[in-house]
Amino acid sequence: MPRRSPVGRLRRQLRLAQHETMMFRQLMDGMLSQLPLRGMFKLIVRAVVEGLGYDRAGIFLLANDRKTLEHSMGIDEKGRFEWGKYPFPVSKKRGFSIFSDIANGHLDFFFTNNIRKKLDRARVSCGVTCNANVPLRVGKDRIIGVLAVDNLFTQRRLKKRNIHSLQYFATQAGMAIESHRMHVTLRHDVKELRRLSRVKDDFLSVVSHELRTPLTSIIGYLKLLLQKAVGPMSEDQQDMIETAHRNAVRLFQIVNNLLDLSRFQAGFQDMQKGSVDPVEVLSNAVQTLRTQAAVRGLILETEPAPSVEPIEADAPKLESVLVNLLSNAVKYTPEGGRIKVACIGTCVGGKDGVEFTVSDTGVGIPRKHLKKIFDAFYQVENHMTRNVGGTGLGLAIAKKIVEAHDGRISVESEPGKGSTFKVFLPRKGPVTGKPTDPGKAAKGSGE
Ligand SMILES: Nc1ncnc2c1ncn2[C@@H]1O[C@H](COP(=O)(O)OP(=O)(O)OP(=O)(O)O)[C@@H](O)[C@H]1O
Ligand SMILES: [Mg+2]
Repeated sequence: MPRRSPVGRLRRQLRLAQHETMMFRQLMDGMLSQLPLRGMFKLIVRAVVEGLGYDRAGIFLLANDRKTLEHSMGIDEKGRFEWGKYPFPVSKKRGFSIFSDIANGHLDFFFTNNIRKKLDRARVSCGVTCNANVPLRVGKDRIIGVLAVDNLFTQRRLKKRNIHSLQYFATQAGMAIESHRMHVTLRHDVKELRRLSRVKDDFLSVVSHELRTPLTSIIGYLKLLLQKAVGPMSEDQQDMIETAHRNAVRLFQIVNNLLDLSRFQAGFQDMQKGSVDPVEVLSNAVQTLRTQAAVRGLILETEPAPSVEPIEADAPKLESVLVNLLSNAVKYTPEGGRIKVACIGTCVGGKDGVEFTVSDTGVGIPRKHLKKIFDAFYQVENHMTRNVGGTGLGLAIAKKIVEAHDGRISVESEPGKGSTFKVFLPRKGPVTGKPTDPGKAAKGSGE
C-alpha cells in the first residue's frame, strides 16, 4: 500500500474543515434569517449532501410522545426535497431497530457499506449501497431525532472518520433545530403575553374610570355629612362617617394610581411642564406628611438647601413623587425614627439638574428586592408592610413620572438601618414629556 504523504493528509483535513465551516455558516445564516422550520430542514440536508459529500440525506425527528420518528425532510440524489414520507415506530426496548436504538441513545452511530446484508429492500431497490445514521443531539444528553445519509453507486465507502464529522454536524444541526423551535415558541409566547397585557391595561383603565365617578360622589356626600351640612350627628355617627370618608379617600387614591399607571402604559400620560422651584415643591410635600409623621412619633427634618435654580417639570406630578417617597419613609420607619429630606443642585452624567433625597432610619429593604420595588404591585414582605396599607403602585408610578422628565430614581438601603431614595431631574427634560425607554431607566433604578 502506498504511504500517504503528510501534506496530502493536511490538505484533506483543510478541505474538510472548509466544508464544515461552510455548512455551519449556512446553518447560522438560516437561524439568523428566521427561516421557517422547513426551510431550516432543507438547509441542513442540503449542507450534508453538498458539504459532506453524500448522495442522499434525511432528517427524522422524534414525535412529542417519542413513539415515532417522523420523516421531516429528505433530499435525494437529484437534489429533490421530500418530506413526511416514512414515520418509523420507536421503542425504548434495545434492539427494536437501528433507528430506534439511535433515537433512544442505545447506539451512538450506525454505518454499513453493504446494505444488501442488512436486508433493507426499499433502499436496495433505489440503488443504495452505503448507509449511516447518527443521532441529532441537543447537548450531551438529549436526542431529538436521527440524521440518515445514503450513498448510491458512487463507490465511496464510508469510514469511521466520515461518521465522526457526521456526528459533529448532527449535534450542530440538532442545536440549530432546537433553538429554532424555541425561538418560534418564544415569539408565540411574547405575542400572547403582549395581548394579555393589553387586555389587562384596557380592563384596568375601564374599571378605574368607572369607579372614579361614583367614588367622587360618595366622598362629596360624606364630606357634607362631616361638615354637618344636613344636621348634627352623634359622636358614634361622626366616628363612623369619618372612617367611611378615610377609606373612600384611600380607595380613590388607589383608583387614581391604577388610572395613572394604565395611562403611562398606554403612552397617554403627558406632563404639563413649567418652571418649578424645587425647594417649594419639596416643602409642600413635607407639609403634606408632617402630621402623619408627628402622629407616628417621627422626626421629620429638611436639610437647609443653598438656593436651587428652578427646573422645568410638572409640579403636581413631581410633588406626588416626593409625597410617595415621604409617605413610604413614614410607613416603614418605626416610632422614634428620623426622616431627612434634602434638595441640591447637581450634575449627573454631564446633565445639570436637581437631586432630591429622602432618607429614613426605618426597616430597610433587603438587596434582592431593591430593583423589584419599582415594579407595579411589588411589596416586600416584612412585619411593617403587613400592618401598613398600600398596593405597591407608588414607586412604579414615581419611576414613570421621573422617566418622563428624563430623570433617574434610585435607592440604597440596609435592612434594619434605613433607606435613602434619590431622584435626579435634569434642569430641562425631553421635549415630548413621554416616558423614555423603560429598559434604559430600569438599569439606573434600584442600584
Ligand atoms: N422607605 C422604605 N423603607 C422600607 N421599605 C420601603 C420603603 N419604600 C418602599 N419600600 C418597599 O417597597 C414597596 C413598594 O413601595 P410602593 O411605594 O411602590 O408601594 P406601597 O407603599 O406598598 O403602596 P402604595 O405606594 O401604592 O400605597 C413597599 O411595599 C415596601 O415594601
Ligand atoms: Mg408607597
